[in-house]
Amino acid sequence: MGQGTPGGLNRQGLPGDRKPDGADKKEKKFEPAAPPARVGRKQRKQKGPEAAARLPTVTPLTKCKLRLLKLERIKDYLLMEEEFVANQERLKPQEEKAEEDRSKVDDLRGSPMSVGNLEELIDENHAIVSSSVGPEYYVSILSFVDKDQLEPGCAILMHNKVLSVVGLLQDEVDPMVSVMKVEKAPLESYADIGGLDAQIQEIKEAVELPLTHPELYEDIGIKPPKGVILYGEPGTGKTLLAKAVANSTSATFLRVVGSELIQKYLGDGPKLVRELFRVADDLSPSIVFIDEIDAIGTKRYDAHSGGEREIQRTMLELLNQLDGFDSRGDVKVILATNRIESLDPALLRPGRIDRKIEFPLPDIKTRRRIFQIHTSRMTLADDVNFEEFVMTKDEFSGADIKAICTEAGLLALRERRMKVTHVDFKKAKEKVMFKKKEGVPEGLYM
Ligand SMILES: Nc1ncnc2c1ncn2[C@@H]1O[C@H](COP(=O)(O)OP(=O)(O)OP(=O)(O)O)[C@@H](O)[C@H]1O
Ligand SMILES: [Mg+2]
Repeated sequence: MGQGTPGGLNRQGLPGDRKPDGADKKEKKFEPAAPPARVGRKQRKQKGPEAAARLPTVTPLTKCKLRLLKLERIKDYLLMEEEFVANQERLKPQEEKAEEDRSKVDDLRGSPMSVGNLEELIDENHAIVSSSVGPEYYVSILSFVDKDQLEPGCAILMHNKVLSVVGLLQDEVDPMVSVMKVEKAPLESYADIGGLDAQIQEIKEAVELPLTHPELYEDIGIKPPKGVILYGEPGTGKTLLAKAVANSTSATFLRVVGSELIQKYLGDGPKLVRELFRVADDLSPSIVFIDEIDAIGTKRYDAHSGGEREIQRTMLELLNQLDGFDSRGDVKVILATNRIESLDPALLRPGRIDRKIEFPLPDIKTRRRIFQIHTSRMTLADDVNFEEFVMTKDEFSGADIKAICTEAGLLALRERRMKVTHVDFKKAKEKVMFKKKEGVPEGLYM
């Protein structure tokens, strides 16, 4: 600014002087005579003292304005600088604060860990681990992990990125297996089963008695059966009987459905079977009940897909566990199926499943008993006579009888009657039988 001011002043102050100069020059160039006397410099020199003597016309107003402008520019600059510095100060702690908050949140949240298996201990601080998916890693063990408890095969916690061992899982039971344990005894008891006396007797001999009185079998000199299979038409009370066993026994009862043993990943199904029997052994005396065993126990054909082969491997593991290379004296197995003919013969051979208990469709006496059981809590009208249904030649299963009773109750409820009449039962029976026949087109098989 300081340099600019005089220039500006000159331009402002001397316009009048210079213009005539330029005009003179031009005029004189046109005249050829006496050029040397008139050179621009000399002219200036001539006018120099005049100009020096004369004060430039600088009004105080202009000067002030200029200074004001200059100062204003400086002020602007300073303001900008101040703002920049303020911003800098304001933003910097915010970043730091955010960082602090983030670490706090991280602390609260905890870092995710993955569960793996310890394959091998290399030295004090290093081990080979494997996670459920994928390869094995050579990683370090953190100092705070209790190394005395680490042993090959145990479940460990690993850092989710670097996979180093950060902890040990004490209870390594597969959560799937702990779900199978029946904590609350089912409500059904032997008294709720109509008929089936022979079946109850057999299952008691094969399953309950060996657990409660093993010495009896020793006296006679036989090995108690390892397990039984319950088979028969759908709805004949197989699951019901197993529930009654669970209700009556004080042994640990583990319940699985065959389809639960089919797992997503290769090797998980057999592993689950192993785990199941290991837990059963730990908690012995115990009873393992596998319902609908046909899901995994079908005959071995040439399997085409990997899935089928995996199911077969699951069954082979089951065979192995039943064989009990590790003696499992206190573990009894109950299997249930309604398609025994499709099961693999190896599964059923004596030595594995010694007792096959058939559940036939109920006979007349049993039907009467089942009707009594299922109507015992219903309010019946006086005219109800079951003999008509009991003596019928239609084939009923226990489940059908239960369905008839429920349906009759619903019909009475529809008309807001407090008592269930004979007509209700008649209608209910027709409905149930119709539904049953509808499911199986008779002509197709005739
Ligand atoms: N003998 C019986 N006494 C009393 N109720 C019975 C009897 N048989 C069957 N039921 C009734 O039928 C219902 C179904 O029986 P259950 O579940 O035991 O059939 P299931 O034999 O296991 O059939 P599935 O082979 O289809 O599994 C039971 O809840 C029970 O109420
Ligand atoms: Mg069943």
